[in-house]
Amino acid sequence: MRIILLGPPGAGKGTQAQFIMDAFNIPQISTGDMLRTAIKEGTELGMRVKDVMSSGGLVSDDIIIALVKERIQQADCQQGFLFDGFPRTVPQAQAMLDAGVHVDNVLEICVEDEAIVQRLGGRRVHEGSGRVYHIQYNPPKVAGKDDETGDDLIQREDDLEATIRKRLGIYHDQTEVLVDFYKNMGEAEALKAHAPAYHRVNGIGDVDEIRTKVLSMLK
Ligand code: AP5
Repeated sequence: MRIILLGPPGAGKGTQAQFIMDAFNIPQISTGDMLRTAIKEGTELGMRVKDVMSSGGLVSDDIIIALVKERIQQADCQQGFLFDGFPRTVPQAQAMLDAGVHVDNVLEICVEDEAIVQRLGGRRVHEGSGRVYHIQYNPPKVAGKDDETGDDLIQREDDLEATIRKRLGIYHDQTEVLVDFYKNMGEAEALKAHAPAYHRVNGIGDVDEIRTKVLSMLK
């Protein structure tokens, strides 16, 4: 099972990814989490991407494509994987097609911009695992602490309102076009055989209700 989660920043991709991973026993490949780990560990990659990420810009396609190509070679990806936050540009999507990496399902989570701006102010994250919470809509069992490890939760640097608006602008300019990219694959004779099933879910509402809808679409 190979799945792409599409949707604007804050739509709930990371939240639903946790349920999809458990249901299908596949790893989540979150390019955002991979880059944040590199920054935290102070690697060369981390140093190269730190400024662009905290300002809400996109990391270059070359870096991202190389990172993902390497990641999907690992043994845990043999039975499938879940792309979360990748691809984000047409060159990234095209690079996967060119490499013969095809997916079975594309799932778009839709949320209006204003709801996202409100939501991301309340997001809290467990740095080690990428587990995501919301102080109001999806709170941890103990305020400020990760449910599994008890570690402190943090607020992401790019969750400031001006940065969120910039990320939304980039989504509309560069990523939203992938909706048609994947929908139209079924119409191109050369790509037809590899066209993924396309699903769209409203990301406003109760997290568990959205999970039920998402899992039934993918099954
Ligand atoms: P990345 O980490 O991928 O961030 P993003 O796509 O902007 O998405 P988010 O993680 O912000 O949101 P999400 O949809 O996962 O929402 P979540 O589940 O957390 O990328 C960060 C940066 O890395 C980019 O800006 C770029 O610089 C770089 N990057 C990464 N990939 C790249 C690529 N491919 N190419 C180039 N650059 C790349 O939910 C959000 C909040 O809402 C949480 O608090 C959650 O608890 C809450 N919530 C979830 N569902 C609901 C609900 N139904 N109701 C109410 N609240 C909810």
